[in-house]
Amino acid sequence: MKANARATFLPFAMPSIGEEEIAEVVDSLRSGWITAGPKVKRFETDFAAYVDAAQAIAVNSCTAAIHIALTALDVGPGDEVIVPTLTFCATANVVTHLGARPVLVDVGEDFNVRPEAVAAAVTGRTKAIVLVHYGGQPCDMDTMRVIAARHGLPLVEDAAHAVGAEYRGRKIGCDAQPIGPTANRGGAAQITCFSFYAIKNLTTGEGGMITCGDEQLADRMRRLSLHGMSRDAWKRYAGSGSWLYEVLEAGYKDNMTDIQAAMGIHQLRKLDGFIERRARYAQMYNEAFDTQRVPEVETPLLRPGRKHAWHLYVLRLRTERLRSDRAQFIEQLRAQNIGASVHFIPVHLHPFYQQRFGYRPGDFPCAESLYERIVSLPLYPGMTEQDVNDVIDSVRAVIAQHRDLTPRSTVTSGNL
Ligand SMILES: Cc1ncc(COP(=O)(O)O)c(C=O)c1O
Repeated sequence: MKANARATFLPFAMPSIGEEEIAEVVDSLRSGWITAGPKVKRFETDFAAYVDAAQAIAVNSCTAAIHIALTALDVGPGDEVIVPTLTFCATANVVTHLGARPVLVDVGEDFNVRPEAVAAAVTGRTKAIVLVHYGGQPCDMDTMRVIAARHGLPLVEDAAHAVGAEYRGRKIGCDAQPIGPTANRGGAAQITCFSFYAIKNLTTGEGGMITCGDEQLADRMRRLSLHGMSRDAWKRYAGSGSWLYEVLEAGYKDNMTDIQAAMGIHQLRKLDGFIERRARYAQMYNEAFDTQRVPEVETPLLRPGRKHAWHLYVLRLRTERLRSDRAQFIEQLRAQNIGASVHFIPVHLHPFYQQRFGYRPGDFPCAESLYERIVSLPLYPGMTEQDVNDVIDSVRAVIAQHRDLTPRSTVTSGNL
């Protein structure tokens, strides 16, 4: 550890769990209703109201949510699903589980998928488009909806990072009009999938939620989340329930539990406050790392018409101005007692995706270039302003130690 480093390690991420969540979980444990039950229903209702959706289905992860969404859209062998390459492997894995091909596409300098890359990737076999609102900043939904409508394709939003984010004044996950009113599918759907994993903006330990404006599709997804059993099967052990149910298709075991929902109900009430604090800390980083002051880094590109949920704060290093690469940079931050991470290793660089689908390094230049340069800094509501200032001081100290003073004429990597 360097002499000027903080005394204790600042983890990259930490959940913010209060006494309300703890008491509610204890209440569930004492009640004897520990799997899907009344608290799951309450969390679904509260969540639907929060994002302004008619339907919300609580599940045990965002991975399960995307899997269920694509199953309900009848994705199967021989189909193609478009997925940005700069995402967590789960987004592409579920496509693979269904026997379909993840058609990976490149992203822009704002980390979100390039709409023109999506448009170019559509073929006769395309069954759905999956978008990722990277870090909590919504994608260009207007353009994506135009592209989806042109081809009558459904949009599945991987909003793992984007609970609380807004696009043109409406929450991600709100009910959207069907895409393309008379497209050959009778107006394609828009389905949104959220993650409540331990370090997400809202956590239930593990968990997820699906929202969707299409009631029939929502009914099918609800059924798929619990073995394909008929409606309200979760009530079968309650006084008001019945032992009688029917299996209408081979579903999954992806339901959320009341213990998870107990946390979710209180986390949801705190969410806007959490995001406010995240945004304030992100602003501190933006000011501290402004390119005028620190030409060795670039702050996140912010697009108009969106409310960022600030799940991640991702700096882009201008490695040509540094004597250390991104991996060394993270090691040097660790030596300063600051945790940092990388989001993400592009999907096409993983051995499985190269071996199974033939992807190669060089396929998606922007994602690869970003991957070489990105560092996610700690950003969570449990941090104090002092913690944020410690991160700022440490990043500056690492840069000062590793600044490449060789004269140069080139400037930025461009703000595409
Ligand atoms: C972009 C993205 N999609 C999907 C997931 C999967 O979420 P979960 O862990 O809830 O399954 C993650 C998790 O980190 C993610 O970052």
